[in-house]
Amino acid sequence: MMSDKLLILGQTLAFASDPFRTGPEDAVKHNSRGAILIENGLVSAMGDAETLRRDHPDARVSDQGDNILTAGFVDAHVHYPQTAMIASWGKRLLDWLNDYTFPEEMRFSDADYATEIAERYFDLAISYGTTSMVSFATIHPESVDAFFTAAQARGMRAVTGKCCMDRNAPPGLCDEPVSAYDDSKKLLEKWHGVDRLSYAVTPRFSPTSSEAQLEALGALWAEHPDCLMQTHLSEQTEEIAWVRSLFPDARDYLDTYEKYGLIGRGALFGHAIHLEDRERDRLRESGASLIHCPTSNMFIGSGLFRARALAADEQRIGLATDTGGGSSFSMLRTMAAAYEIGQLGGTALHPAELWWLATCGSAHAIGMGDRIGNLRVGAEADIVSINLASTPAIAQRSAVADTLWEALFPTIMMGDDRAIDQVWISGKPQAKPDV
Ligand code: GUN
Ligand code: ZN
Repeated sequence: MMSDKLLILGQTLAFASDPFRTGPEDAVKHNSRGAILIENGLVSAMGDAETLRRDHPDARVSDQGDNILTAGFVDAHVHYPQTAMIASWGKRLLDWLNDYTFPEEMRFSDADYATEIAERYFDLAISYGTTSMVSFATIHPESVDAFFTAAQARGMRAVTGKCCMDRNAPPGLCDEPVSAYDDSKKLLEKWHGVDRLSYAVTPRFSPTSSEAQLEALGALWAEHPDCLMQTHLSEQTEEIAWVRSLFPDARDYLDTYEKYGLIGRGALFGHAIHLEDRERDRLRESGASLIHCPTSNMFIGSGLFRARALAADEQRIGLATDTGGGSSFSMLRTMAAAYEIGQLGGTALHPAELWWLATCGSAHAIGMGDRIGNLRVGAEADIVSINLASTPAIAQRSAVADTLWEALFPTIMMGDDRAIDQVWISGKPQAKPDV
C-alpha cells in the first residue's frame, strides 16, 4: 500500500514572528533546500530536505526544485459574487455599487448562477495560490450555499456570510431586520464548523442597514461569538459623509457598528482608510482587524491605507483583494499594490512584511493564525509552490539577485498565476484548473 506521507522539497519560507514587530531578519525562517512532511492533511515535520528524505524513506516525494514553498495565501476580504464584473470602468464607490455591483448581485437569486460563479471563483482563486478566504455572499441564501458547497468540495478553509441590506439598495436586494437575522442564523447553523467552513455575520455597510438591522445582527453575533463579523468601514470620503447624514447621532462611522455590538475580536473591517483618532483607539482596544484592500483602494479611488503606521499603532491587519472592487484575484498583485501604496505614503514595505500580510497576517486577522497562514508543525497543509522565474521579465531579474528578498521581489511586483506551480489544500495537490 502507498504511504500517505508526502514530502515536498524546495525553498521553505515561514515566519517565526511578525516582521512589522521584530524586523524581517528575525521574523523569517528560510531553508534553501528545505522540506515539508505532510501526514493526514497536516504538516508533521519540517527541516532539511536530505534529513527528512533519509528519515522518511516511505514518503512520496514532490521535488519542487528551487521553487519557494510557502503557506497558501489568505484573502481576508473578497466578494466572490463580483467575479464576473471585475474591472468595471469609471465609477467611484457609490455609483460603482449602484451601476455595476447591485445588478450583478441580483443574479444570485438563481441558485444555478450562484453555483456557476462560485465554481469559477474558487478555480481562479486556487490558480492564483489563494487557499483560504473570507468572502461576502449576496443577500440570497442560495449564494451562501453555493460558496460553501464549492469550498467544501475542494476541502478548503473558507468563510462567508449572507450580505444583509434593508435599505438604499434595489428592492430585489433588500431583506428586513428579522429576515436578515433568521436567514443568517439558519445558514450559520447549517454551515458553521462543518468541515473547514465557518460563518461570518455580514452587514454590508452602515448605509445599507437600518439601525434595527444592525441591532439584530449585533444580537446574532453576540449569540455566536465564535463566528466572524465582516463589514466595510471608512472607505471613501463621500461614503463617510453619507454615513454622517444617515446616523446624525453617531460619534463617527465606527460608532454606527459599535452601538450595536458589531466590534471586537473577530470583527473584520474592510478598507478602514479614513479613520478618526477615536476610531483607531477603539479598533485597537477591541482587538478588531483592519483589512487592507490596496488594488481596490486604487481602482475605486478610495485613498491610502497607512499599513506601516497602523501596524506600529498595534492594529491587527490583514490583506485582501476585495475582488471585484479590487482589480485582481492575485495576492501577488495585491502585495505589489500594497507596496505601491506604501511608497505613495512614504514607506517602503519590506517583501517580508508584504508576504506576512498575505499569509500569516491575514490568517491572524481572521482568527485562524493557529491553523493556516504559516508553515510549521501542526499547521494545516495548505501550501503553494512558487516559481521565481515564471516569465522572461521576472527570470532575468531574479537571475541576478544576491539575496532571497531580491529574488522574491520581482515575483511580488510582476508575478501572476504563471508563478503558481502547484497548490496543496490539506495536503492534496490541486490540478491547475483550466479557467
Ligand atoms: N462597500 C459596500 N459594499 C461594497 C463592495 O461591494 N465593495 C467595496 N469595495 N466597498 C463596498
Ligand atoms: Zn468589500
